[in-house]
Amino acid sequence: MGKTKTSMCAGCHGIPGWRTAYPSVYSVPKLGGQHADYLVAALKAYQSGERSHPSMDGIVGSLSEQDIDDLAAYYASSYSGPVK
Ligand code: HEC
Repeated sequence: MGKTKTSMCAGCHGIPGWRTAYPSVYSVPKLGGQHADYLVAALKAYQSGERSHPSMDGIVGSLSEQDIDDLAAYYASSYSGPVK
């Protein structure tokens, strides 16, 4: 399910202020509450190389199409505020 896979994403996408600490402070897009279609398109764009970012390029390589669908569905339905 999408929720278990999110442990791979939470380190960067689940922190208050939505910023990565490494390699430099960089604003990380908020995923919760985005449209599933948008999230699927973004993840596939990283996979195809159409879109590129050092943080995301390594991550998407390990995701199957099913993982992407699950993750997108999970984030699309999740509350986008602080974790309760
Ligand atoms: C090492 C940190 C890191 C990890 C881990 C990470 N991300 Fe990201 N993610 C980023 C950064 C930084 C960006 C912004 C990159 C850019 O500007 O293209 C991003 C962008 C995205 C985007 C595009 C959002 C948008 O609004 O365009 C999606 C979707 C996404 N990540 C999903 C995920 C998912 C799903 C996972 C877990 C499987 C994950 N990320 C794991 C750092 C990370």
